Amino acid sequence: MVCLGNICRSPAAEGVLRSVVSARGDAGRWEIDSAGTGGWHIGQLPDKRMRVHALRRGLNLDHICRQVHGSDFDDFDIIVVMDSDNEQNLRAMARTIADEDKIVPMSAFVSMATRYDYIPDPYYEGAEGFELVLDLLEDACANMAEALTR
Ligand code: 4NP
Repeated sequence: MVCLGNICRSPAAEGVLRSVVSARGDAGRWEIDSAGTGGWHIGQLPDKRMRVHALRRGLNLDHICRQVHGSDFDDFDIIVVMDSDNEQNLRAMARTIADEDKIVPMSAFVSMATRYDYIPDPYYEGAEGFELVLDLLEDACANMAEALTR
């Protein structure tokens, strides 16, 4: 799961997907992590606002922020990006066509009615922005787990 800062959207996506696969009794088959294209918050817990909103839904986000690196293309089968900036950055980092083929937008798994074709950055938004991100991620991660285990 990749976003810009790795303190809002991608650690939330990591937490939501962990919860989804755990509820499916499938956690052992998944290796789930998150990272940011930017390095400003390395070593930090997720943004307090995202932790509070996630906790209201029963999700404890305890990921420690890290920056994405080239070896992530070796370590993971898919790299899920939250928006088109993340996608462009990851495509620039890809070393091979096979690396590029691993990059998938989270929006591809969203099925709920929404005006967004990406996961909008909530960093400069209020509570509604964080709730929207969690709504989109819960929908998308359920569909992703279903699609990838089918
Ligand atoms: P994220 O949100 O990409 O969802 O983690 C952001 C967090 C921090 C910053 C930007 C976006 N920042 O500029 O520090």
